[in-house]
Amino acid sequence: MLNRKDLLGTFDLSKEEILSIIELAEQYSFDNKNNVSNSKVLSNITQINLFFENSTRTQVSFEIAGTKLGANVVNFPLNNSSQSKGETLLDLASTLNSMFPDLLVIRHPNSGAAQLISEKVKCSVINAGDGNHEHPTQALLDAQTIRKRLGKVSGLQIAICGDIAHSRVARSNIFCLKTLGNSIRLIGPKTLIPSGIEDFGVAVTHNMFDGLQDADVVMVLRLQKERMGGGFLASEREYFHYYGLDEKKMKHTKPNAIIMHPGPMNRGVEIDGDLADDLNRSVITEQVEVGLAIRMAVLDLLTRKHPLRKKCQE
Ligand code: NCD
Repeated sequence: MLNRKDLLGTFDLSKEEILSIIELAEQYSFDNKNNVSNSKVLSNITQINLFFENSTRTQVSFEIAGTKLGANVVNFPLNNSSQSKGETLLDLASTLNSMFPDLLVIRHPNSGAAQLISEKVKCSVINAGDGNHEHPTQALLDAQTIRKRLGKVSGLQIAICGDIAHSRVARSNIFCLKTLGNSIRLIGPKTLIPSGIEDFGVAVTHNMFDGLQDADVVMVLRLQKERMGGGFLASEREYFHYYGLDEKKMKHTKPNAIIMHPGPMNRGVEIDGDLADDLNRSVITEQVEVGLAIRMAVLDLLTRKHPLRKKCQE
């Protein structure tokens, strides 16, 4: 059960809440694979997707998740919208309130935008990524993928590699995977690891061979160039040499270690293309599949007490 109006991050999710989302998502995963329909779960519910940043997989995943549950899904058009005419986020919130949505899925380039809007709108808000802050459904789908492939998601050695500084995926995963009882190591160049991040209870190293030693899970992050002002890297070639995941570096992990990437990935920059395609170790496409089920679970759990859902079941 999720006793909250919004899902803004994983920083304040309890172990029980995380596990209840994962368990429901497992049911939805099974149903999706076996053509079991859940199209009545959110009938009467209106879901607005509000994506201020370009997104392919996350936006489509939320759209399909809502549609599979029978919600009325509206993609708020932002290219030609009043936002480009200078409307503030808070004015947009009051516009949205007047349209009575029940769920709002928001992605925004600024950290804290989801929180700000959640304080002003009456409906449930799901953060689909705010700046370099949080991306909770990505961390939840990562946790479920790990559990599916390794049979557990606690007591594991998890290496998160690359551009930690600009990654909301890294932040959400640190909170979520630590709450579940895993050890986290962050690996990356000094310029891409925020100082003081050890205070979150994670280990930091700048050497891939050290950091990957006996890892069960290797999570590779994209270089978030759109958030870099420049000056973070000497060159992509040099970055791949030191931090790109390849066979040589994978020799240091546990033999059955899995490889994850939130996508979109840059082959030959943060990961070797053949390794990304190695289905025995890479779970990258599985992450996308699990993502749909996680989003269905979150949309469902956040609206369990919604009066329109009760009306529909009567
Ligand atoms: C991530 C994001 O947008 O933060 N991607 C995603 O949600 N699939 C990671 C990234 O863009 O590198």
